[in-house]
Amino acid sequence: MEDGIAETGAAVLSLDALRQDLAHCAAAPADAPRGLPGRFYVSEALFRHECAALLRRHWHCVGRGDEFENPGDYLTLTLLGEPLIVVRADSGIVALSNVCRHRGMPLAEGSGNANRFVCRYHAWTYDTDGALLRAPRMQNAGFDPKTCRLGRFACVERFGFVYVCLAQTPPDIDAELEGLEALIGPYQPGEYRIVHAATETWQCNWKALVENFMEGYHLSVVHPQTLHGYTPTGLSRKGPVGAGFTSYFANYPDNIPTRGEGAPGLTEEARHRSTLFAAFPCQVVSVAASLLVSLSIRPLAATSIDVRWTMSVYGDELDGDTIDQRIALWEDVNREDREKLEAMQAALGSVHATGGPLAGEDFEGTVRDFLRWLARQDAQ
Ligand code: FES
Ligand SMILES: [Fe+2]
Repeated sequence: MEDGIAETGAAVLSLDALRQDLAHCAAAPADAPRGLPGRFYVSEALFRHECAALLRRHWHCVGRGDEFENPGDYLTLTLLGEPLIVVRADSGIVALSNVCRHRGMPLAEGSGNANRFVCRYHAWTYDTDGALLRAPRMQNAGFDPKTCRLGRFACVERFGFVYVCLAQTPPDIDAELEGLEALIGPYQPGEYRIVHAATETWQCNWKALVENFMEGYHLSVVHPQTLHGYTPTGLSRKGPVGAGFTSYFANYPDNIPTRGEGAPGLTEEARHRSTLFAAFPCQVVSVAASLLVSLSIRPLAATSIDVRWTMSVYGDELDGDTIDQRIALWEDVNREDREKLEAMQAALGSVHATGGPLAGEDFEGTVRDFLRWLARQDAQ
């Protein structure tokens, strides 16, 4: 099956044919947009291509800066098969390879605080910048601990989010996100403090969750009890698009109060809506005056993802009970989305999952933006 790329009920298609399909969908005009055929969401061969050509080349949100407040605060995760330790070192927040330079043991698991990482296999010991401090009994001629630093990946903080890129030459994140500051800067996203984090495994393709989170078309249908009252589909409006992001506004009805004061100087308009954006490829965010929810999608295979979501709050406006209610609400929202995406995933291998017409700019224009971004990456 290596020659063919789409393992669906349909005829086996080559990678070239899929790339042409993508270019064709992305070229559809704004008044007649099309979604991708189902084979883009089920093919393991295409997923391997995406990993190499796209996912490993871009920035991925791995957490919030305030998760690494103190020196030695760390978090472990696996991103596209790479085990990582993200830690506040002397030099700032760094992303180290969580693979011992001796024989490959992971050095840490979960999260916590440490001033050094001691391998549980033969006790090689590293500092939080990845330097090898100690390697017991290693007296071989020519052994030089300096050549045994932990691997390291690019790591930056923007808008209070920590981003990691696995590529040796990462793209310019400021160019990718240019225009996002004008959109979300007034909320002061760097000032929100984290109150909740959870990770789940969903049985769906990574692109399906990006698309789902970023379109307002499903809000009133999928979330009648949880979101419809605040952010009904009918009030969704397309937001700005940049080189590496897209956005939309989920406006609140006039008779609904704002969700808190939020940052000083925030306009009434901004207080009266949630602003949703995707930082491509894998982060989707909803920011409102007092609440910021971010989902980091970590693709595992064509049909499964890990989703790590965090909730952060602005200032002290929300008391503990209200925060608990918001967490419970978002757990419900995520469950409602997950049920739909896992059910849809099971149908996307059909010969009849040919990719249908999309709704207009305010409702699914962000999906079109995403497909155009995917096609641009593919053309590079
Ligand atoms: S594998 Fe880590 S010390 Fe041996
Ligand atoms: Fe949803």
